[in-house]
Amino acid sequence: MFKYDAPADLLQNKVVLVTGAGSGIGRTAALTYARHGATVILLGRTTSKLEAVYDEIEENGWPQAAIYPMNLEGASEQDYANLAATLEQEFGHLDGLLNNAALLGELKPVAQYDAETWRRVMQVNLTAPFLLTRELLPLLRNTEQASVIFTSSTVGHEGRANWGAYSVSKFATEGLMQTMADEEDGISHVRVNSLNPGATRTTMRATAFPAEAPDASANPEDIMPLYLYLMGKDSLDANGRAFHAQRQPGKSQ
Ligand SMILES: NC(=O)c1ccc[n+]([C@@H]2O[C@H](COP(=O)([O-])OP(=O)(O)OC[C@H]3O[C@@H](n4cnc5c(N)ncnc54)[C@H](OP(=O)(O)O)[C@@H]3O)[C@@H](O)[C@H]2O)c1
Repeated sequence: MFKYDAPADLLQNKVVLVTGAGSGIGRTAALTYARHGATVILLGRTTSKLEAVYDEIEENGWPQAAIYPMNLEGASEQDYANLAATLEQEFGHLDGLLNNAALLGELKPVAQYDAETWRRVMQVNLTAPFLLTRELLPLLRNTEQASVIFTSSTVGHEGRANWGAYSVSKFATEGLMQTMADEEDGISHVRVNSLNPGATRTTMRATAFPAEAPDASANPEDIMPLYLYLMGKDSLDANGRAFHAQRQPGKSQ
């Protein structure tokens, strides 16, 4: 497990957007960032789930969150521009972006993979983070130091039979991360890295491994040290790197 002890006020006065914030790892990340002082913009496709996270943040007395319902599958370029304009008006800048939402798609050999499912997975996992990050870049550049995190996967580093579009989208996510990190290097204070959560107990994990015992994988809470490290000031020197939440840097899983 990646080890990091975050100060309680690590994200005080920071504005952070999390996609897929209504459930799974995104929900836990949103709550964790709020607990460490961030104002979190909760983006996701199911408003009731976002509201539940919003309420939990409020009940705990953490900085008031904001809800932005958005379906990343059907969103147009204009929708992303509207989001950026809203955030510009409300906050004027953005300190962090966690691209977390994703679709698993089908677990099938490429020889049998459905083209429409392929398109949907690529849209949510790759094209949406590209459009979102591109539109939010001016807001991210408009602060002293900002962090963009792209969520990867073990199958974004090594291909595995039957992981189809999901695996390919995560390889491409690594490419997008490296490209943007190199582009921002030296011209802005935006750092761009990828984060592989590793096996984590969520709906996605249960769908991919229905026979697996629930306690065989990590809890979303267990992997939060890396989410905090990459979002906060202790990772200022990290740019263009691939991190693994369930490994220490330099060690294999
Ligand atoms: N869990 C693991 O073991 C594991 C391992 C490696 C990588 N990852 C990566 O970690 C990230 C989070 O995974 P997870 O396990 O938490 O998955 P999850 O439980 O399936 O949650 C996915 C999240 O994405 C949202 N989402 C899906 N389609 C969307 C769309 N079209 N528009 C907006 N939001 C959408 C979902 O919203 P709804 O709840 O409203 O559907 C949900 O909040 C993903 O990038 C995944 O690839 C997970």
